[in-house]
Amino acid sequence: MTVPDVRPDLPWITAGSIDLAELEAAREQSPIARSDRGYEVLSHAPGVRALEHPDLLKGPSFLKRLDDFGITEGELRRRWNQVVTTTEGEHRTHMRVPLARLLRPGQVAKLGDAVRDIVHGALDEIDPSAPVDLVDALAWKIPSRLYCHLVSAPMELAPTIGRLSDSVLGPLLTQDHSRRQEFVDAFWEGLELVREHIDARRKDLGDDFTSAMIQMQLAGALTEEELLAQALSILQASIDNTVHQIAIVLASLLEDPARWSAVVADPGLVPAATEEAVRLTPRFGTIFRLAARDTELDGVPIEEGSWVYVSVRSANRDPVVFPDPTRWRLDRPSVRQLMFGAGPYNCLGQHMARLEIHECVRAVVERFPQARLAGEWTTRQTNAVTEVTALPVALG
Ligand code: HEM
Repeated sequence: MTVPDVRPDLPWITAGSIDLAELEAAREQSPIARSDRGYEVLSHAPGVRALEHPDLLKGPSFLKRLDDFGITEGELRRRWNQVVTTTEGEHRTHMRVPLARLLRPGQVAKLGDAVRDIVHGALDEIDPSAPVDLVDALAWKIPSRLYCHLVSAPMELAPTIGRLSDSVLGPLLTQDHSRRQEFVDAFWEGLELVREHIDARRKDLGDDFTSAMIQMQLAGALTEEELLAQALSILQASIDNTVHQIAIVLASLLEDPARWSAVVADPGLVPAATEEAVRLTPRFGTIFRLAARDTELDGVPIEEGSWVYVSVRSANRDPVVFPDPTRWRLDRPSVRQLMFGAGPYNCLGQHMARLEIHECVRAVVERFPQARLAGEWTTRQTNAVTEVTALPVALG
C-alpha cells in the first residue's frame, strides 16, 4: 500500500527538521506528524510505543542508511548485512544475545576501577595551565582506551581505534557523502585490525571480550565471519557515540556556572545531571523504523513500507512527561530514556556509556572544580545526531 500524500488530520513538518520551535508547534497539535519522508513521532509515550512496536523494524533502517550512502551491493554490503544492527529475526537474536551477555549491567559494574584509571590517566596528560579542548584531550581518549582494555588490545592502538570508529559512524550517521571513501577504507582497515587482534588472542586466551567471543566460536555458537562482525560492531558502536555524549554532558554543565557549582558541591548529583543533559541535548536526535505491514500507532494508521521517525529531541521536551521542559532540573522523576532506543533493539552499551560519562564528570569536578568554558562550545547537528566539534575549557 502506498503512503497517502496528504493526511489533513496530522500536522506537516519539514523532513529532517532540527528546529525545536517547528517540532514543538507540531507536537502541540498532535503527538504524530507527517513529513515527506514518513511519519514523525513527536511525543514521549507514542515514541516509546513506536520503538517497541512489533511491526516497526529497525534492521531496515540501518540498511537504508547504507542504501542512501550508495553501499547497495558487493562484499562491503554483504559484511554489513551480517551485523546485529542491520538484521531481524533469528539472525538478530543469534548476534545480539552474545553481545548482551558481554555488556550486561553486572559485567559493566566490574569496570568501574578500570574506567576511573583511564579517565584519571587522560587528565594526567593535560597541562591545566592553558585552555584545552576537552573533546580531543578527554572525550576522544576514554571510549577508545576502554575498548582496548575490554578486548586486551595494546593501548597504543587507541587513537587508531577512535579514528576508525569516527570514520565509519561519522559519515554514515551524518550522511556526509564527501566522506564516503573514508568510510569504505575505515571499514576494511577496521576489519583487518580486528582479524589480526583475534588471531593474536587465540594463542593467549584470557577473560577479555575477544577471548569470550573466540570461546563462543570454538563452541560453535559463532562462525569465523560472525566473530569478526561482532568484534567490529563493538569497535564501531562503543566509541563515536560515547565521545560526543561525554562532551555534550560536560559542555552542558560548564556552560552554566550554577550547574557546575551544583555538581562540585554535591558530586552525588552527577547521574541526575547526566540524564538532564542527555534529555536536553541527546547525541541521537532521531531513531527510525520501517513498518513491516499495515499497522497502527496510537490510533494513526501506518501503511506497510512507511518510515516512522521518532524524534528524541522533541519527545525529550514533551511537557506531559517533563513539566517546564526547557528548564534544567535535577529533581525530575526517573523517566524512560528514549535516546538509547527501546525494545529488542535497545542500546546494549548504555550502562557502559553512562559509567564512562559519570566517571569523566566526577573526575573533572574533583580535580578541577574551578573549570569554566574558555570560549564557545560548538556542535554540528543533523537530524540523526549531534557531534561536538569544540569544547574549549580553562581547567585551572
Ligand atoms: C552515549 C553513547 C551511546 C549512544 C548515544 C548510543 C545509542 C544507541 C542507539 C540509538 C542505538 C539503537 C537503538 C534502537 O534502534 O532502538 C544503539 C544500539 C546499539 N548500541 Fe549504543 N549507544 C551508545 C553507546 C554504546 C556503547 C558504549 C556500546 C558498546 C559497548 C554500544 C553498543 C550498541 C549496540 C551493539 C547496539 C545495537 C543493538 C541492536 O541493534 O540490537 N552503544 N545505541
